[in-house]
Amino acid sequence: MLEDKRILLIISGGIAAYKSLDLIRQLRKRGVWVTPVLTASAKEFVTPLSVSALAEEKAYQDLFDLTDEAEMGHIQLSRSADLIVVAPATANLMAKMAHGVADDLASTLLLATDTQILLAPAMNVRMWEHPATQRNFSQIKSDGVAVVGPNEGDMACGEYGFGRMAEPHEIVTAIEAQFAVGPLTGKRVLVTSGPTHEPIDPVRYIANRSSGAQGTAIARALTLLGAEVIFVTGPADAPRPEGAQIVEVETAQEMAEAVQNALPVDAAIFAAAVADWRVDGASHSKIKKQAGTLPSLSFLENPDILAAVAQMKEGRPELVIGFAAETDDVVENATKKRARKGCDWIVANDVRPETGIMGGSENAIVLISEAGAETWPRMGKDDVARQLADKIVEALAEG
Ligand code: CTP
Repeated sequence: MLEDKRILLIISGGIAAYKSLDLIRQLRKRGVWVTPVLTASAKEFVTPLSVSALAEEKAYQDLFDLTDEAEMGHIQLSRSADLIVVAPATANLMAKMAHGVADDLASTLLLATDTQILLAPAMNVRMWEHPATQRNFSQIKSDGVAVVGPNEGDMACGEYGFGRMAEPHEIVTAIEAQFAVGPLTGKRVLVTSGPTHEPIDPVRYIANRSSGAQGTAIARALTLLGAEVIFVTGPADAPRPEGAQIVEVETAQEMAEAVQNALPVDAAIFAAAVADWRVDGASHSKIKKQAGTLPSLSFLENPDILAAVAQMKEGRPELVIGFAAETDDVVENATKKRARKGCDWIVANDVRPETGIMGGSENAIVLISEAGAETWPRMGKDDVARQLADKIVEALAEG
């Protein structure tokens, strides 16, 4: 799939730059031509010589290097690739991208290009969580940049959290997803996934056991069939699907807004376990214990995101798929749910604790459509995703 593709690999200055050497090696093994570009601070972590030796190409470094300008201008350099990969992408480089700053070769290339960009952020967890970085990250994503990672884990600085660069093999998968051509090429598909968190106060929230595993697997399967996938996820444990556009939300209301922003789409799959209720008047400060009294919570109903999209009068996606997590009378309840919500299919699963489905790696589903109920054997969530994706291909082809 990647043979003879050209990738411009921008390496910015973070400790994770050492992993980019392995990334180059893995890409070369797949027959990819890698043109490396290093920022000034990247050179503190890896040498241009090692990068260029692995890539078997010159490592570009300076904007005002006249020889380079004579050989290949920066505009041409930025556009000659099939894909631009930034790995690692530091907080600083992300800030420049978000604001259109072009003050060195890497940032100038990123501003001058009309080629798709894939970003692999890497930084200390505090820098990652800083509102400024999160703002920049949202901006970059809404500018159409694809992202992979960051992952959660131990950091070089001794802290723990989000900010580790995705592993080279994950970046390769994300690159493959960018080039995926298949029966869904040209189709835009929305997937919601994960739980929502409904705050009680700044430190407490109401949540559910959804891990986001099934939604993530569906997004991956659709991406590999060539679809442009917008993945709207609550705070889920599952790693984010490579190659999809990721929109992170926390509450049901935020999810509803993100879904509206993602429209129009050809198909919409609502795998998220959305909280039905939110706390009325969540406290802005932590609720303190008070001797002799217990706090009482009152609830408001959350918007039904699936029903709103399924019942759109104009611009309704061609195919709307809902999920039903049931503990009793699965087929009967899910059939009623399909009619009530107005969606085309319901993927119903039996989530009684003894099935081990919620939070587990397997799923046993019943697909409810106009044609009736179709019971699938118990299988891995990845297999469910692949089979569902194939059915989506058929449905969209029938139009
Ligand atoms: N859903 C949604 N927005 C909500 C609630 C649910 O989009 N506020 C979607 C879920 O993503 C899933 C389906 O609706 O696709 C699940 O519906 P469920 O929450 O089970 O429906 P309810 O009508 O709340 O049914 P129940 O009586 O089982 O709670």
